[in-house]
Amino acid sequence: MSDSFDLIVIGGGPGGYVCAIRAAQLGMKVACVEKRATLGGTCLNIGCIPSKALLQSSENFHAAQHDFAAHGITLEGVKLDLRKMQARKAEVVSANVKGVEFLFKKNKVTWLKGAGRIDGPGKVSVDGVAYETKNIVIATGSESMPLPGVEVDEKRIVTSTGGLELDAVPGHLVVIGGGYIGLELGSVWRRLGANVTVVEFLDRLVPTMDGEVAKQFERVLAKQGMKFRLGTKVTAAKADANGVTLTLEPAKGGPAEELKADVVLLSIGRRAYTAGLGLAEAGVATDERGRVKTDAHYATNVPGIYAIGDVIAGPMLAHKAEEEGVALAERLAGQAGHVNYDAIPGVVYTWPEVAAVGKTEEELKAAGVAYAVGKFPFTANGRARAMGYTDGFVKILSDKATDRLLGAHIIGPDAGTVLPELVTALEFGASAEDVARICHAHPSLSEAVKEAAMAADGRAIHI
Ligand code: FAD
Ligand code: NAI
Repeated sequence: MSDSFDLIVIGGGPGGYVCAIRAAQLGMKVACVEKRATLGGTCLNIGCIPSKALLQSSENFHAAQHDFAAHGITLEGVKLDLRKMQARKAEVVSANVKGVEFLFKKNKVTWLKGAGRIDGPGKVSVDGVAYETKNIVIATGSESMPLPGVEVDEKRIVTSTGGLELDAVPGHLVVIGGGYIGLELGSVWRRLGANVTVVEFLDRLVPTMDGEVAKQFERVLAKQGMKFRLGTKVTAAKADANGVTLTLEPAKGGPAEELKADVVLLSIGRRAYTAGLGLAEAGVATDERGRVKTDAHYATNVPGIYAIGDVIAGPMLAHKAEEEGVALAERLAGQAGHVNYDAIPGVVYTWPEVAAVGKTEEELKAAGVAYAVGKFPFTANGRARAMGYTDGFVKILSDKATDRLLGAHIIGPDAGTVLPELVTALEFGASAEDVARICHAHPSLSEAVKEAAMAADGRAIHI
């Protein structure tokens, strides 16, 4: 027996590393098992951070090529150095993952390097070395969902992992799935010069978001040159020396057709990752989608074993995993950690960005809730005009009877940075009028939030 701990967390992603640090802060002796060569999980290594680095770089490239001229700035011979762009992305990732390692040292969290396996309550082995612990947290995250008939080689047929590493801009990129990954990475390669076609099974994009926002999103991305094949499914993709041939079929049935691509990005969702954990042997229950089943306090059916993050139910978002990590560590320390699942924001980091919190109009209609809508377009916002980016709007949904804020949806410049005041308002149970009566700096994009809140009561000033 090598060592014993109060808590062993398996997985060093945003859920696991945050849980480990918070538990250590609260006085526990903590270890975190991570098999990747670096800490930070999917998010820091092959997810949020590298994708945002490439989104930023490609946005700069696109602006230099297409937007600067309108400001009276003429650039000639703007060229892409993709190698350098990829090297910068790698540096951004490296700085972030080293940051987590530093935080582990600072908080005295032991990193057990290797693959963790649960040998029973209170027992974890890491590459065969056994450890004892009072509690175990499963934070093993998720992996890309496979599609029958589409064999990923991470070169021509890629998941997001290969899609972040391409060493040349594809002539034609076909994206399977019009969700978060497809639209973010599709935007990256579109801005760098690829023709991009998104094949989406449903008749709309980003299915978890507000329908009106999704429609506007589609229009704006189409204006940027992205092509959409909605209501269409991919039944096969075959790679050869000349590229990839996809077979498409209407989702509701009909004749098949072929589509040629240089690279195919498979992004139809992610699934819980539990391989090699020994869940079945340890008796830990999973649901029909392979996610670890927990109660409201992250406890599995086996005493002393808990789970958080992408490996359990709920949105697969880094900040949701982090909140769960903190809440669970605090509960294990006898405190009252809690996550409000009604106020978890979601942001698609395209240009414009799409940001949302709370209920969509479709959800409110389905629940029979009477609601008011307040909307304000960025075309009427002075700051957006000054920036030269006026696509989109702020939409606020409030309870018809009480005016309580129920949902907020923004498509527009820096929407993800504009949204948080509405997340705060929702968290504090504010009304649309509360938001409308807050003094917002002028000229700022957030004035569109104030105006949308005023519009919910039919008294917007600037439209
Ligand atoms: P993960 O981050 O997946 O971490 C799990 C870790 O556990 C991994 O490092 C894995 O190696 C390790 N592990 C698994 N099994 C074992 C084992 N048996 N032993 C030891 N280690 C093990 N979310 C956002 O909120 N914002 C974004 O902008 C965003 N962008 C994304 C972009 C992409 C391309 C992708 C793929 C995802 C993105 N996400 C984003 C989602 C986000 O990455 C996940 O929600 C988040 O990483 C989940 O955190 P987690 O800790 O649950 O799991
Ligand atoms: P997603 O769930 O966002 O989108 C998948 C899309 O694929 C959906 O629109 C779905 O209808 C469609 N689809 C499913 N099966 C299909 C098929 N056979 N053919 C065509 N379309 C099909 O999943 P995605 O984009 O893979 O991302 C996974 C998760 O990672 C996201 O849900 C999100 O939780 C997280 N993520 C978050 C980001 C952010 O916060 N900015 C960025 C990237 C990922």
